[in-house]
Amino acid sequence: MDMVDPARTALTDAFGRRISYLRISVTDRCDLRCRYCMAERMQFLPKNQVLTLEEIALLADLFISRGVRRIRLTGGEPLVRRDIVDLVHRIGRHLGGGLDEVTLTTNGTRLAQHAQALTDAGVRRINVSLDSRDPDRFADVTRGGDVRAVIDGLDAARAAGLSVKINMVALRGVNEDEILPMLHWCDRQGFDLTLIETMPLGETGEDRTDHYLPLTQVAESIRRHHALSPVAHRTGGPARYHAVQGLKVRLGLITPLTHNFCSDCNRMRMTCEGKIFMCLGHEDHVDLKTALREGGLAAVEPLIDRALRLKPARHDFRIGPGVSAAVQRHMSVTGG
Ligand code: 5AD
Ligand code: SF4
Repeated sequence: MDMVDPARTALTDAFGRRISYLRISVTDRCDLRCRYCMAERMQFLPKNQVLTLEEIALLADLFISRGVRRIRLTGGEPLVRRDIVDLVHRIGRHLGGGLDEVTLTTNGTRLAQHAQALTDAGVRRINVSLDSRDPDRFADVTRGGDVRAVIDGLDAARAAGLSVKINMVALRGVNEDEILPMLHWCDRQGFDLTLIETMPLGETGEDRTDHYLPLTQVAESIRRHHALSPVAHRTGGPARYHAVQGLKVRLGLITPLTHNFCSDCNRMRMTCEGKIFMCLGHEDHVDLKTALREGGLAAVEPLIDRALRLKPARHDFRIGPGVSAAVQRHMSVTGG
């Protein structure tokens, strides 16, 4: 059964972009503290400010009825939320009936525990963040994480039949020398690899400028070993994929700073507090939680239409001397 009611307008913004992809941050909490992402002592939201499972599920139903076809659950770390598997089940009910896929971005630390349940709930693909496979380096970047747990999680994901894409934030002087080895490792594991430039989101107590590594430069150094050819493959996100000569692994590049990809943006983000942000790089938002709690779903619909009008033409991230956080919100609030 297709839930889309043609009488109601599909989600289209002021620039004619069709919004078919919703990212939902289900919690701002995380069991790691990656240096580029969070401050060492993060203040997390009190529970009553975070949407309940039922609220998230109702809003997801509404968005799907307005034409959202892909949902990605993010955080913080989505798997630290206790009811996460139930939520995936709830959303997964729409698969084949309006929803094409439900995916997850996770740091992998609890994947060993949840991989099979996620598959059973309808998840087919996951993104796992892994900036280094070296235990000491991983512990340093994440301020105390155990890379072994992530590797075990990845093994469990493979065993559960999930297709895996590794997300690696490229950090100058931190993991630059590990990018090519990571590409080869992903190839052997049957994973894809996406590299991400650091984005100036939220204060972390560290200067991002020091570690900013433009991916144009990384691609150039990979090309000394493997020819890269752009492929048409898209997964609904901002990554541009490349075939890597001699390898099966696909290499995705997310380049918010060196190359702006906003013109074909089809995304919208909902925070764990029920705020809709139309762009990672802008502060404009609408608050669905208050509307939902006070007026139910009928009060939410007009706000969604307002959010669509707020979607900006493009982000204007810059990074350089004196600009360490262009946007005060951390990625863990809005969802990566
Ligand atoms: N810049 C770039 N990537 C970030 N991530 C978190 N914060 C930032 C940032 N400021 C990454 C995580 C994860 C993905 C969802 O976003 O490492 O892989
Ligand atoms: Fe947690 Fe992901 Fe942020 Fe690292 S990048 S602290 S794993 S939310």
